[in-house]
Formats: sequence, C-alpha cells, structure tokens
Amino acid sequence: MNPKPRVLIARQIFPEIVERLRRHVDVTTNDAPVDWPRDELIARLQGHDGVFVAATEPIDATLVAACPQLKAVCSMAVGYNNIDVAACSARGITVTNAPDVLTDTTADFGFALMLAAARRITESEHFLRSGRWQRWSHDFFCGADVHAATLGILGMGRIGQAIARRGALGFDMKVIYHNRSRLAPELEAPLGARWVDKETLLREADHLVIVVPYSKASHHAIGAAELALMKPTATLTNVARGGVVDDAALAQALRERKIAAAALDVFEGEPEVHAALLAVPNIVLTPHIASATVATRTKMALLAADNLIAVLHGRAPLTPVKA
Ligand code: GLV
Repeated sequence: MNPKPRVLIARQIFPEIVERLRRHVDVTTNDAPVDWPRDELIARLQGHDGVFVAATEPIDATLVAACPQLKAVCSMAVGYNNIDVAACSARGITVTNAPDVLTDTTADFGFALMLAAARRITESEHFLRSGRWQRWSHDFFCGADVHAATLGILGMGRIGQAIARRGALGFDMKVIYHNRSRLAPELEAPLGARWVDKETLLREADHLVIVVPYSKASHHAIGAAELALMKPTATLTNVARGGVVDDAALAQALRERKIAAAALDVFEGEPEVHAALLAVPNIVLTPHIASATVATRTKMALLAADNLIAVLHGRAPLTPVKA
C-alpha cells in the first residue's frame, strides 16, 4: 500500500481544518505564531508532498528547486503574488488559491474602510479618546458624502464588482472603473458602471478603491503623479496588496492635503508600516484583515485543504491557478 501523502501546514490554522486534512493525509503543523523564513520553510518541507500556505509564505523558484517532492502548493488566500506560479508549473507542481469564498466579506470591508475614510471615523475617534473633545462646532470633522458620489474602482474583478454593487445599489453611487478588460455589457448595466481610462478614473473619482492584484505591472500603480491627478476632496482605499500604492507618496499627499483621506488594509513590506503613514491623521489603518470573519476565513482554509486532498489523491484541483 502506498504511504499517505504528507502535507506541511506552514502556519497556525483552525483545528477543524487540521482534522479534516488528517483524515486524508499525514500532517505536519506549525504550532507557533511565527512565519518561517524561506530557508526554514525549505528545511521543514523536505519529504512533504503538499504545503498549506496563505498570502505571505515565499514560494519562489529557489524553494521549488529545493523541494523536489512537492506536488501541491495550496493557499487559503485569493492573491498569490507570494507564489512563483511559473516555477511551480515548470516542475509540475499544482498551485491553488481561494477565490470567491471571500468576495463579499472583503467587499464589505473595503466599503467600511471607504466610509471610515470619507466620514473621518477613526480620526475623530482618536481625537475623542485623547480627551481633546471640548465643544461641538459646525465644521467639526466634516468629511465627504459617500451616497450619490462617484465611486472609482481600479481593478474590476470579483471583489471590485462586489464593491461596485454595494455602491450603486446601496448608496446610489455613480460607478466608474478602470481594468485591463471591460466588463461584459450585461455586468456593467445593472451597476451603471462605466469603463474609463486610468487618468479619468483618478480625476473623476470622489472615492477611489483599489482592488487590483499585485504584479510587476501594478507595482506603484498609484504614486505621486497619480495622486496629483485626484481631487483634493477625494479618498483612496486599498484592500488589494501592499506595493500597488507607493506608501511614501501617499503619506506625503495626505500630509499636503493633495487628497482628503485614505484607508489602507495592506502595506508595502507589511507587517512593517511606513512611519510617515503612522504620522498622518487623515488615514484609517488596519492590519490586513479584509477577509477576516470566522465564517469566511474558515471557508478559505477549507478550500485550501480540499485542494490539497484532491491534488494529492490524484484528482483535479477545485480552484487551480494557471501560470
Ligand atoms: C488576502 O489578502 C488574500 O489574498 O486572500
């Protein structure tokens, strides 16, 4: 009888996911709240057929070459810029991600961040908590309306469309978007969504939400030049990936009030956060939690586990990533 396939779960995860995997494969866990650096991950992966990862484990060409037994890299994240998919597929390793299951949860959070930036919710809360509230005033923390404003979306995939739905149907917003490809007319029509070039998006958006995946092509897609095109009353929200926005340029634009406010869930070099961002008041900062509800994180992890089980038992993956 063939031995059971062996899976390394590279990070702590819900016990029911470990249990599910144990029913089908031999499991090694990482029980510590630490992310293994690449060399340690390589050492721990020896003799394993599959690995369970999320958005940060560096599955690069060096790791892939050093782990010849590896057959499956299954991530509980939807974004997979931490995985060299071409290097994996060149060695016959299947890569999977976790699309769809987090779409609405992430869209809820993106919308919440946009609202918080526009209505200065965390900025005013810090003010209150610091004991500085002495009187009400007519211009006290005046922000920008969200309802009936122009929602600009950069990257109109599943999450972008879900944010557009919330804006158009719930908040009567006018939706413009920029994406490599235009949506089909039957997807645009119910949202009243209009494709525009990037410059028009930046110039016209009252609230810009970034949902484009990170790649070399999207690195610093929003930098000083792009921020300079935006309205001084506009807000910017990023729930995509650190590196799509130039954090230093954003901090400067906020400091100089080139735009009114921002909200970031993702950062260049996270969990480090650029000191200049921490120093500006007109920003909402959260630690990469857009998909963080118990129900959704459980579904994401379950999908990664089911992908591992399928691939290592010779079945087709449920949600493969193509090179
Ligand atoms: C989280 O950032 C994800 O890609 O799922």
